[in-house]
Amino acid sequence: MAPPLPGSSGSTDSARGEQAAWQRRSIAQVWHPCTQMQRMQAVPPLPIARGQGPWLYDYAGGRYFDANSSWWVNLFGHADARINAALREQLDTLPHVMLAGCTHAPAVELAERLSALTGGVLGHAFYASDGASAVEIALKMSFHCWRNRGREAKREFVCVRHGYHGETIGALAVTDVAVFRDAYAPLLRQAHIVASPDARQAAPGETAADVAARALDEVRALFEARHEHIAAFIVEPLVQCAAGMAMHDPAYLRGLHALCDRYGIHLIVDEIAVGCGRSGSFFAFEQAAEGEAPLWPDFICLSKGISGGYLPLSLVLSRDDIYEAFLDDEVARGFLHSHSYTGNALACRAALAVLDRFAQDDVLARNRASAAALTAALAPLAGDERIEHLRQRGMIWAFDVREELAGERFAERFHLAGRRHELLIRPIGRTVYLMPPYVLDDELAAWLAARVRATLDEVLADVLAESIPTRSSDAAGASDPATA
Ligand SMILES: Cc1ncc(COP(=O)(O)O)c(C=O)c1O
Repeated sequence: MAPPLPGSSGSTDSARGEQAAWQRRSIAQVWHPCTQMQRMQAVPPLPIARGQGPWLYDYAGGRYFDANSSWWVNLFGHADARINAALREQLDTLPHVMLAGCTHAPAVELAERLSALTGGVLGHAFYASDGASAVEIALKMSFHCWRNRGREAKREFVCVRHGYHGETIGALAVTDVAVFRDAYAPLLRQAHIVASPDARQAAPGETAADVAARALDEVRALFEARHEHIAAFIVEPLVQCAAGMAMHDPAYLRGLHALCDRYGIHLIVDEIAVGCGRSGSFFAFEQAAEGEAPLWPDFICLSKGISGGYLPLSLVLSRDDIYEAFLDDEVARGFLHSHSYTGNALACRAALAVLDRFAQDDVLARNRASAAALTAALAPLAGDERIEHLRQRGMIWAFDVREELAGERFAERFHLAGRRHELLIRPIGRTVYLMPPYVLDDELAAWLAARVRATLDEVLADVLAESIPTRSSDAAGASDPATA
């Protein structure tokens, strides 16, 4: 049974007219992200009038379950009462002040609380707005730190095959997703790209840990040859999300940490997508530790969920010794990077409200229970021969539709069919994934699994009926710019 539809106005001619008008006006004037605009007439944007909890409502009386948490940012649903209240108070107190030469309580408290979550090992929060900016900052900090220490030759970066770290020029240089990167390749600094530990590569009889060990062998060989020149290794811990929710064994992170330590290379952990509880622990990297003693990298990049899906906020946490390498009488040895909205008070206040939720509601434990419910509801898919690699980590679920069955433009077809089943869902290539807000109960989990199944049935039946061939670009599992 679908949960009740709060406040639906039903679909009238005027509501449908309003819906169509927003689509027309958006296509005419808004250059949408990650979109081939020529395709917009065939796949018009979905105008959203309002959001409540996990639901988004259009102007024509339709509702949609936000199955990808609005590009992985939303944690507690839309228009959450507690985050709203915190923001209203902040709005009346101090919406923003520049952070150079000034400071304010939300920026200070957020930095303190995040540092405490690393046991005080990392801190000195450096704020920005978007994930890509945080990646730029970590890369620059790493290089500049080595330079300040007289190691200027360390200016190379290492990233993982099919990894994604954002699309500004510096972040794109350590991103290996062809559809986003290829057009700009002439502008990008060359990075070393090493094998992905993606567990789907396991040969028969191999475990995810075996795949991780193989991937680490390649890292070791590269470090051995180039460690004098390598500044940092950047990695998405546990799940390479944009690669199609490619998951790996935590042993990979443990091994990487040891290799970076041994060869004197910074480890930058990009928790932008998987941080804030998404992977099952607050920081995904926490799962790298095998025993009692926690392991921490040199840098953590955080964004997306940290502000609950409300406001653009990102930040980089670093170790004390890195921070101290910038302290000097000479101005130019400091980290002079800045953005106008750095440490925006409203965004920091939203983040504090998010951390309050974690503390007050025991979010990680509750997520374990709701994850078990959705995993159980999706379990019948494990025996479905149309799909492969059904997988889960924390609050992320994914499966791949078999290449020969997916047909052309699978992601787009699934997305559009999903809308008819009250889902806002955007597969990556032929990978269908769920990254819902942290609000699932048993009933909603069962509903969600049933709707995903119904959408899959509809799309694959259509493909079969129309004998739609699989395009080579879809088959590669590349991010489809229309739906990624
Ligand atoms: C792992 C990772 N890093 C960086 C980014 C870039 O973040 P933003 O889109 O906010 O620039 C993303 C975005 O999806 C991401 O998943």
